[in-house]
Amino acid sequence: MAIETTFSIIKPNAVKKNAIGPIIQLFEKNGLKVAAMKLVNLDKTKCETFYAEHKERPFFGELVSFMTSGPVVLMALKGENAVTRNREIMGATDPKKAAPGTIRALYGDNVGENAVHGSDSPASAERELKIFFETKEFVNA
Ligand code: RTP
Ligand code: MG
Repeated sequence: MAIETTFSIIKPNAVKKNAIGPIIQLFEKNGLKVAAMKLVNLDKTKCETFYAEHKERPFFGELVSFMTSGPVVLMALKGENAVTRNREIMGATDPKKAAPGTIRALYGDNVGENAVHGSDSPASAERELKIFFETKEFVNA
């Protein structure tokens, strides 16, 4: 199995409900290591660049406004099959459809405010990590 690095965001609703700790614990318990991490308020332009693939979707404005509504935790997560593993730990986009015990089932509020983001492919992970991290910020690589 390949060692990969994926990109993860703990979204504003999860930060607000003091779930940073339990969410990172779920990643660590399930084989993913934090390789880079920061707590920030997302800049609107960077957020729009990050979500460019959803620009034409009806929820785009709402999504950007939610993601810039409060602090988020940006992380690089490393481990075996990290991209797929992370998506499994997160659960389905809609918390109502997410499997029990997944982050979105535990901490998601609705399909938009669904607690976490995770890259959907190694190519997306590479693109997304480059938007938010410089090479020197990977301290546990
Ligand atoms: P993500 O990219 O955040 O990891 O989530 P995902 O792949 O499961 O979902 P995606 O289809 O890429 O959608 C990106 C984010 O947009 C918000 N969303 N809102 N109101 C809606 O119907 C709707 N659909 C999606 C969610 O925050 C989703 O994570
Ligand atoms: Mg996605």
